[in-house]
Amino acid sequence: MFGKVTVQIKLVEGDSAGTVTAFYMSSDGPNHNEFDFEFLGNTTAEPYTIQTNIYVNGVGNREQRLNLWFDPTKEFHSYSLFWNQRHVLFLVDDTPIRVQPNMENKGIPFPKDQPMGVYSSIWNADDWATQGGRVKTDWSHAPFFATYTGFEIDACEVPASVAGTESAKNCSSSGVKRYWWDEPTLAELNVHQSHQLKWVRARHMVYDYCTDTARFPVMPVECVHHRH
Ligand SMILES: *[C@@H]1O[C@H](CO)[C@@H](O)[C@H](O)[C@H]1NC(C)=O
Repeated sequence: MFGKVTVQIKLVEGDSAGTVTAFYMSSDGPNHNEFDFEFLGNTTAEPYTIQTNIYVNGVGNREQRLNLWFDPTKEFHSYSLFWNQRHVLFLVDDTPIRVQPNMENKGIPFPKDQPMGVYSSIWNADDWATQGGRVKTDWSHAPFFATYTGFEIDACEVPASVAGTESAKNCSSSGVKRYWWDEPTLAELNVHQSHQLKWVRARHMVYDYCTDTARFPVMPVECVHHRH
């Protein structure tokens, strides 16, 4: 609960069309929270796309998509989720690519009372993942490998037996108990990180649900309040 999770991944080399590699955090239950990195494969020499998504109380539909500024199949790169009471950050090689601020003061729910697990998987998503589902998985190129190293987790540990609200209390900085991720300097992006995020959004973003007026004739409330 809260903290930072990082893993270094080298994505599927060559023809990865139709595959999705995922690295995500999720809580259990029908009203679960989830923070997703999904790496959408492509045909040989065509670029991977990163899709991120956030579920709060069981509701997702908050996709963003980016092209990367490097080839993620050649070397390991680090992908991190940073989570505290103030925001959720998605980072690639420590560059923020997405921020979900806590806007509870605007009545928007924020994930902060369900502990989460950390997961990764690779699966066949050729009905939608690559070029809108037009390119299917070529099984003659199987098996498809994503490779991992350097898994790091620095978070508040919650025993499975402890209820969400109880763990939320145990994982809050209070009195002498201070968690590093609650330091005031980490309550928002610093100037350098804000510039990095601007650069990513200007140069690499290919889709943002917050600008998809065809899909959302009425914009989700968090989009109205969260201007970049
Ligand atoms: C795959 O490559 C095509 C052509 O370069 C590109 O339009 C698309 O965004 C890439 N990513 C996916 C997931 O299809």
